[in-house]
Amino acid sequence: MAEEEIKKGLAGVVVDYTAVSKVNPDTNSLLYRGYPVQELAARCSFEEVAFLLWNGELPNAEELAAFTARERAGRRLDPVVKQVVDAIPTTAHPMDVCRTAASVMGARHELSEDSSREANMAKAVDLFAAMPAVVAYDQRRRRGQDLVEPRDDLGYSANFLWMAFGEESVPEVVDAFNVSMILYAEHSFNASTFAGRVIMSTLSDLHSAVTGAIGALKGPLHGGANEAVMHTFDEIGIRPEESLEEAATRAKAWMEHALEQKKKVMGFGHRVYKHGDSRVPTMKAALDKMIAHYGRPELLGLYNGLETAMDEAKGIKPNLDYPAGPTYHLMGFDTLMFTPLFVASRITGWTAHFMEQLDSNSLIRPLSAYNGAEERHVP
Ligand code: ACO
Repeated sequence: MAEEEIKKGLAGVVVDYTAVSKVNPDTNSLLYRGYPVQELAARCSFEEVAFLLWNGELPNAEELAAFTARERAGRRLDPVVKQVVDAIPTTAHPMDVCRTAASVMGARHELSEDSSREANMAKAVDLFAAMPAVVAYDQRRRRGQDLVEPRDDLGYSANFLWMAFGEESVPEVVDAFNVSMILYAEHSFNASTFAGRVIMSTLSDLHSAVTGAIGALKGPLHGGANEAVMHTFDEIGIRPEESLEEAATRAKAWMEHALEQKKKVMGFGHRVYKHGDSRVPTMKAALDKMIAHYGRPELLGLYNGLETAMDEAKGIKPNLDYPAGPTYHLMGFDTLMFTPLFVASRITGWTAHFMEQLDSNSLIRPLSAYNGAEERHVP
């Protein structure tokens, strides 16, 4: 087979239709079920966006009330899942905890062997409702803190922050978190969604597909990049006493050196977007608000310095993980928890895709070109 016929990494290959979202790299636009993601982030709660991704339409007031009640009723951490989480050493990455929790939730689900649309929708909502408790508790146990029970008088984002920090967050912080959840929710056939669609295409179950997708998201070339961005900031050195300009100068020098060494710098570049990630301006605006709220201009200096130096040297633009990392840092999340936050959000898009896959299924099974040893025989 000719080398050019092999589409390494499936780059540029269109595998199937989807009605969940549309990524247009030429116009840097992203639509969820037809709605621009920027509009959703400005005007909707994450609960409304989750409903939209699953049902194709935004909820009316009655639908939203029913959906919200259902989500609030499913927030408590299952004591068995808690026991399993407690059995995982804190030396393990929190993504291992998420992956294991999703698997246990599947094995314990009352509809585990039922893959009807109704059962899958119920499983999706259950995962959406329960995953924040796993992520929040995992961060707390690593800090030697106790579980914080959910509050059913708070929306999804406010409650998530409550369970993580044991105190109510101010509206500005809740809004920025809500924006990050909406932006992370869905992005067509990205690696984790595709991995899950492959699993679903074998007629396996929804929790297995989510578990596999979490494994794919863990990698630094995908979701793990938001965490890696913070490691870069840490390596350069976060100095709250420094001015914006001083921080920018140090960051620029760091980037120039990294690129001389041919390093891949996480948080930059994208397989689909080559002129900038459609989600970045909205997330950057949320980061700017957090920088102002917490009074940390030096972080903006680091951000600007890296971005400018990368643009000047290679013309490569930041992706969503770049502004998301420092935003979560400012909110008080530990760096290791950033990708699990992405999981909590992406469960919505993943499961919308997995149900879509089942609705018009064909086993995903590509071909390979053999380049191993010629046929030979045991001596
Ligand atoms: N830092 C330095 N150079 C880069 C970067 C980067 N982050 N991204 C791309 N390049 C360079 C490559 O070295 C390559 O240069 P070359 O042609 O001189 O060899 C060229 O740009 C093309 O890069 P590829 O990796 O081949 O592009 P691809 O489309 O396969 O990669 C990817 C996309 C994997 C996202 C890449 O840009 C990358 O590794 N970025 C860092 C990881 C990251 O931030 N991932 C998050 C993705 S978004 C998300 O999950 C929300």
